[in-house]
Amino acid sequence: MIYFLDTADAAAIARLCDLYPIAGVTTNPTLIAREKRPFAEIIRDIRSVIGDGAMLHVQVTGRDAETMVTEAKKLADLVGAGFHPKVPVTAEGIKAIRRLAGLGFRVTATAVVAPQQALMAAVAGAAFVAPYVNRLDMIGGDGARVVADIVHLCRVHDLGTKVLAASFKTVQQVHAVAMAGGQSVTLPPDMLEALIRHPLTDSGLAGFAADWAAAYGEGVTTLDLI
Ligand code: E4P
Repeated sequence: MIYFLDTADAAAIARLCDLYPIAGVTTNPTLIAREKRPFAEIIRDIRSVIGDGAMLHVQVTGRDAETMVTEAKKLADLVGAGFHPKVPVTAEGIKAIRRLAGLGFRVTATAVVAPQQALMAAVAGAAFVAPYVNRLDMIGGDGARVVADIVHLCRVHDLGTKVLAASFKTVQQVHAVAMAGGQSVTLPPDMLEALIRHPLTDSGLAGFAADWAAAYGEGVTTLDLI
């Protein structure tokens, strides 16, 4: 499993990258707009906290392939090594994915909600395809099923494209995607932290701490005893 953070909040990224095995960051126009500061400054700040070469996915905003390709080229200069242009799976987007893949870009096809969109993007040369799990679940769809279908399609058609599952609101959605073989997930900070939170872990550790303190004293660690 490859974990990404789905946020443009540089402070949250810095805190969580210090704790968890995060391979990179994904953003979208909504997440960037939420920061309410200059776009280039946001991208530079994220780059400085994740380090040179870590993956940073930034979405193009043009509607036609020509503009998307030009954006990706300029964004590459701003973002540096590890840049992944996010390109939507519209007809113009597929055209842009083909062109960008031909130029050597590692493209992430985004706004994927159906397996056939993912297959088309993969054949066009996308390195990642990003299905939106919660947005499907919210309208009675089955996001994890869509991920499973994409994983299957990429395998049987011998495509190297990876799933980068996005849009999560519950731990169960992440679990279902992992069980379906999705190779990577991008999570907002609260979702990433929710993955390992459990009251039985907390109560178990509280019991160990109380027993230890009663025997050896409050604040004493094994370092004080060996
Ligand atoms: C990532 O590529 C998507 O833009 C993002 O995960 C969508 O998440 P949301 O459905 O919570 O907005």
